[in-house]
Amino acid sequence: MIPGARLIILGRQGAGKGTQCVRLSRHYVVPHISTGDVLRAAVREGTELGKSAKEVMDAGGLVGDEIMIGIVNERLSRDDARARGYILDGFPRTVPQAKALDDMTIERPIDIVIDLVVPRDLVVQRISSRRVCRDCGTNYVASGPTPVLWICENCGGDVVQRDDDTPEAINRRLDLYETQTAPLLQFYGDAGRMVDVDGVGTPDEVFGRLTQAIDTARRRR
Ligand code: AP5
Repeated sequence: MIPGARLIILGRQGAGKGTQCVRLSRHYVVPHISTGDVLRAAVREGTELGKSAKEVMDAGGLVGDEIMIGIVNERLSRDDARARGYILDGFPRTVPQAKALDDMTIERPIDIVIDLVVPRDLVVQRISSRRVCRDCGTNYVASGPTPVLWICENCGGDVVQRDDDTPEAINRRLDLYETQTAPLLQFYGDAGRMVDVDGVGTPDEVFGRLTQAIDTARRRR
């Protein structure tokens, strides 16, 4: 494996992007840039960005393109991302964001865009049983093995249900995915820059498929 990569992971909410990006980030030794994590950190810290984003996020809406493009542009210009690359999780989420990303990466283009494919009924099940550590973001599953007293085994933080994992917000997010984010599949697919990866199976199985698709695409470049 050659360290360093510039990757975009697309997929429905609950497809397992966050779960897999943590592993991919260790495997390829690159930062995992999750725009959802950036926004949740801003909410926790009570910054202006966090205050304005919280209501939109809790309702399952999308934060404005201009704000998101600014956040990602700043993050990609840091030394680690410039030198080693990155994995983008949750960005781009609209065609204007994808076009802006093409402008930002003109000198160092993305290696591959992956669409992690999981059907809607399965992602609803996954999100409904998801619990997360408020501090480090580790995922837990409510119906499976649970941390003792809902304290994170990783960092000791509280394990809770995300504020946007209510049935109403889940459905709004999935509807918005169809109207705002699914057009990206055509945007990248038409340009031959995207590969579909089946996201159904155990996390280990999905990880194996992802690394195979990424390594194949990088060998071809
Ligand atoms: P974000 O944090 O990106 O949330 P999301 O898109 O709703 O995605 P999720 O975190 O729900 O899903 P995931 O695919 O990461 O799944 P996970 O690995 O957790 O964004 C939150 C909000 O921020 C947005 O709604 C929006 O408001 C705002 N935002 C962020 N970026 C934005 C942007 N660019 N523009 C505008 N607004 C933006 O897995 C789900 C569950 O399944 C977990 O419990 C996990 O343990 C389990 N699981 C994972 N893999 C498997 C498997 N193989 N088998 C069984 N279970 C599995």
